[in-house]
Amino acid sequence: MSDARFDFGMIGLGVMGRNFLLNMADHGYAVAGLDKDVQKGLSLEKEATAKTTVKAVKDATEFVSCLKKPRRIMLLVPAGKPVDSVIEEFLPLLEKGDILIDGGNSHYTDTLKRIRYLEDKGIHFMGMGVSGGERGARLGPSIMPGGDTGAWQAVKPMLEAVSAKVNGSPCVAYMGKDASGHYVKMVHNGIEYAIMQLISETYMLMHLGLGLNNDELHTVYKKWNEGNLQSYLIEITSDIFLQTDDKTGGRLVDIILDEAGAKGTGMWASQDAMSMHYPVPVIDIAVAMRDLSVYKEERTNAENIYGNPVQKILTDKDSFIAQLHDALYFAMITCYAQGLGMIQKGSVDLEMEIPLSEVVRIWRGGCIIRSKLLDTFFDIFSKDKTLANILLSNSISGEVKNYLPQIRSVVSSAVNAGYPVPGLSTALNYFDSYRRKHLPVNLLQAQRDYFGSHTYQRTDIPGVFHTEWDGKDD
Ligand code: 6PG
Repeated sequence: MSDARFDFGMIGLGVMGRNFLLNMADHGYAVAGLDKDVQKGLSLEKEATAKTTVKAVKDATEFVSCLKKPRRIMLLVPAGKPVDSVIEEFLPLLEKGDILIDGGNSHYTDTLKRIRYLEDKGIHFMGMGVSGGERGARLGPSIMPGGDTGAWQAVKPMLEAVSAKVNGSPCVAYMGKDASGHYVKMVHNGIEYAIMQLISETYMLMHLGLGLNNDELHTVYKKWNEGNLQSYLIEITSDIFLQTDDKTGGRLVDIILDEAGAKGTGMWASQDAMSMHYPVPVIDIAVAMRDLSVYKEERTNAENIYGNPVQKILTDKDSFIAQLHDALYFAMITCYAQGLGMIQKGSVDLEMEIPLSEVVRIWRGGCIIRSKLLDTFFDIFSKDKTLANILLSNSISGEVKNYLPQIRSVVSSAVNAGYPVPGLSTALNYFDSYRRKHLPVNLLQAQRDYFGSHTYQRTDIPGVFHTEWDGKDD
């Protein structure tokens, strides 16, 4: 029976949707979930905490009519066509003022189109990034909503209740206009890819270069997680080395195939940065390395041709591990620098008015890239909301300078011993380029003008110039 007594509805009861809804029920909201798969509905009701109000339905009309108005409905379905199908299915059932929230990893340009399409019909559509995986959804994710401010106000108390908390402060905030929520989540994932790549390089150097076993690796990352590298990704890395495989009894990490999957959000960040001419090279290389990993057969053939040149890293183990720690810390700063700089630029270009201090505040808890470093970034952006790049802040420059020799030394040891460290070396090269007043692109400009009359500017006189180069090619 439909009695419009439910506060919030969820379409899509996969594990993320189910957990998010159960989390909301635990905070006192009456919730309804819709999924055509009856089993998923049954799991929702079975896992509900006693005395919470949770109902699973499989009929769209029944679902819509059991929700209080204006209806607050969240979608957690795969990005792309499924989101449009759900919208089309529900449009005839919704009324003006109802709120549809897409909590999946949709591309922000799709979200923007959907916002425009639905606003004509009086439906508020919000793009909302949700980070923290299955556990986060259940116990407190970081939530990145954007778009219609009225809709945000209508869901704010609920989202604040279910989000992660840092020092009592909820890890949810209004991310800005239009599709800003999904834009911020896309960049979050770009940073996620970059940090994961960097950590995996440190793993390779310690495992193959220094010969550390899984127990020792566990200990190193655990210790790192107690200091300034403290972060969710380091924490789970440390745990991973202890996991036993129930089929072989060995450590699971050793038998996982070295081919990475990717759902596309990191690639979107990279593509989007490139199309607005904003450099995020550590994110780019992380995407490229996932892609390269999939060419296992070609890599194997190449190894057969060229051999595997890696040697042991013959320095004092403890001091190399200490250097590696500092190198990773340095490189992680560059990942955030690039991602946050991209948000700053994207926000201006797309007129989204994204509050950077709020972005870093809500990333401090619940999300995959949460880390101690974000406390520092929060202080930085609280003082200077328009700062283009955190590397320009005095609050971080001291540490960056201190750790620079370490990353240089690690990259050089790794390269000399034959280990690929594309993430660490790109972080270093990005920094070495970013901090230079002069780059060698004067030559590049000369080349462009030489072969294509593309013109150049001079350092001494204003204006645009072209030279008839005295070349031999004409
Ligand atoms: C998060 C994650 C989450 C998802 C990634 C995985 O913030 O909770 O980013 O959204 O795990 O999309 O992405 P890949 O499959 O591309 O690695």
